[in-house]
Amino acid sequence: MFAAMPDSTNLDEPAPRIYLLAAHPHWRDSHINRRLLAAAREVPGVDVNDLYSSYPDYAIDVPAEQRRLARADLLVLMHPIQWYSMPPLQKLWLDEVLAYDWAYGSQGTALLGKDFWLAATTGGPEESYHPQNYNRYFFDAFLPPYEQTAALCGMRFLPPLLLHGARSASQQEVAAHIDTFVDRLATYPDWPEMDEIEPCPRCIVPQTDRPQDAEDDAAALGATPDTTQAEAA
Ligand SMILES: Cc1cc2nc3c(=O)[nH]c(=O)nc-3n(C[C@H](O)[C@H](O)[C@H](O)COP(=O)(O)O)c2cc1C
Repeated sequence: MFAAMPDSTNLDEPAPRIYLLAAHPHWRDSHINRRLLAAAREVPGVDVNDLYSSYPDYAIDVPAEQRRLARADLLVLMHPIQWYSMPPLQKLWLDEVLAYDWAYGSQGTALLGKDFWLAATTGGPEESYHPQNYNRYFFDAFLPPYEQTAALCGMRFLPPLLLHGARSASQQEVAAHIDTFVDRLATYPDWPEMDEIEPCPRCIVPQTDRPQDAEDDAAALGATPDTTQAEAA
């Protein structure tokens, strides 16, 4: 729906402080996130990437993404909650861009000290996220995967901005939510609660626990990846 923003740096302008990843698999069906996306595009200093338009084939340009992320102070993940989590292309972005020894691990310091902010919408109203209701858990129970992803990269997890019951929210509630979102982007990092948010503890994944890739497997077997595949076939 929206054209991808070219990955270019204008040396006359300061680098954007905020990198916003907007992920919606079906923008045409979106009521809320597409209004948030349009509003974010108007805020100076925000580098907006509409993931599903940038990578319709799911072929993420990892070096370009790492460059855009490395120059920002704040990473924003903006999406509808789907199956208590993020849309699949947003998850693939995390899998590929947050690489070992770049984003985490003993050498992985690229994101150390940056901030991480989730701006999400849910179909379920707030009261549905309750032990006595159909979502059975308070919504906080679904946040640790986000929070710990930030922690592993040495990023501070800022209080998420959530709009529950997105489909049943009134026009006034939606407008107020968009205003809050824009205000947060425009005033970052001068948020009232910022001084009270603890810096992230350092969480280092040792080499032994890193995800192995084909080259590691091949080296362990004393073969190249190609011969390993040929032998296995
Ligand atoms: C595949 C799929 C899974 C969904 N999973 C959830 C869910 O786990 N919890 C929830 O509250 N809403 C869920 N929803 C509803 C969306 O979160 C909701 O429609 C969206 O936040 C509304 O924002 P939009 O108008 O920008 O699309 C799901 C919707 C889809 C299409």
